[in-house]
Amino acid sequence: MKKTSTDVLPAEGGLGNEPLLAVDDLHVEFRTRQGAVRAVNGVSYTVNPGETLAVLGESGSGKSVTAQAIMGILDMPPAVIPKGEIRFKGTDLLKLSDDARTQVRGQRIAMVFQDALSALNPVFTVGWQISEMFRVHRGMSKRDGMNKAIELMDKVRIPAARQRVNDYPHQFSGGMRQRIMIAMSIALDPEVLIADEPTTALDVTVQAQIMELLAELQRESQMGMILITHDLGVVADVADKISVMYAGRIVENAPVHDIYRSPGHPYTKGLLESIPRVDLKGQDLYAIKGLPPNLLDLPSGCAFNPRCPYRQDNCVTAAPQLYEISGTRGSACHYWREVLDGERQ
Ligand SMILES: Nc1ncnc2c1ncn2[C@@H]1O[C@H](COP(=O)(O)OP(=O)(O)O)[C@@H](O)[C@H]1O
Ligand SMILES: [Mg+2]
Repeated sequence: MKKTSTDVLPAEGGLGNEPLLAVDDLHVEFRTRQGAVRAVNGVSYTVNPGETLAVLGESGSGKSVTAQAIMGILDMPPAVIPKGEIRFKGTDLLKLSDDARTQVRGQRIAMVFQDALSALNPVFTVGWQISEMFRVHRGMSKRDGMNKAIELMDKVRIPAARQRVNDYPHQFSGGMRQRIMIAMSIALDPEVLIADEPTTALDVTVQAQIMELLAELQRESQMGMILITHDLGVVADVADKISVMYAGRIVENAPVHDIYRSPGHPYTKGLLESIPRVDLKGQDLYAIKGLPPNLLDLPSGCAFNPRCPYRQDNCVTAAPQLYEISGTRGSACHYWREVLDGERQ
């Protein structure tokens, strides 16, 4: 689908009444031989400067595809965006020309990927890779770029940065490699940072350190941050608000503390009850029964209904809208009141 494209980018600085980033009713399908895989089915969320949105959901719920659509790195085809907008300070990125999009990607909206080892190039030193951002995008000399690389390695707390700048990716631990990825992602002072499962490959202590680093960098720069995770446990301390995804839809939106105190969707409740708790060691974890749906053939009504302990007849016949629980909360469950009250059906 070719839309009219524009080269006009949003200005640096002021926002007016627009959110920094607004994903609005986004739909993404993959046209495959088996049929259309409906990976994203009407996702909306916003991020403002200095704000952290955590996007949570099991594997396959459409978190990364949404992020790839924001970055403009989906392979199209097979991906198709039949509907929706991705507004960056009011400008729909989906309508931008390729040239203009390139100006945004990596510079004004940057991304940290899960797997730092495969995202880094094994044959170049980390200093070279970080400094390349400055050489390519800021026209810096090699020497100035290297100095900037050292500065950034210090900033992400890599010990002995000046010595280690000439080391190769495999000479670093997983946690240090992720710090290098983060250094590259913030090199050009992005306004939005998307971190897609940035700590999944790391052990628990290192996970916490990386989360703390991201939170600190964000406090300094006032970036808007989208933190994608399948683990509710890692985002409690850093997120301001949470959007929970299931089968390509947002099923619950809420400020972070509200969600931990009283989930408003049965799926969120199931996820919360699946977080391992030290005090309950040895007891069976409540895991959500069943499997996520086949995106080639979504269940009728609410996509979660086959797994839901709150299911009633209308859950099979009518897809719930995102009901407004309060000014800052929404739940796509016909029975959100019962869920909030903690009644098990
Ligand atoms: N190139 C592709 N072709 C077909 N299906 C895809 C493709 N890329 C992703 N998908 C499907 O889209 C769904 C959502 O994927 P993704 O956004 O990566 O999930 P997650 O929430 O784990 O990040 C998955 O079911 C995945 O199989
Ligand atoms: Mg993913």
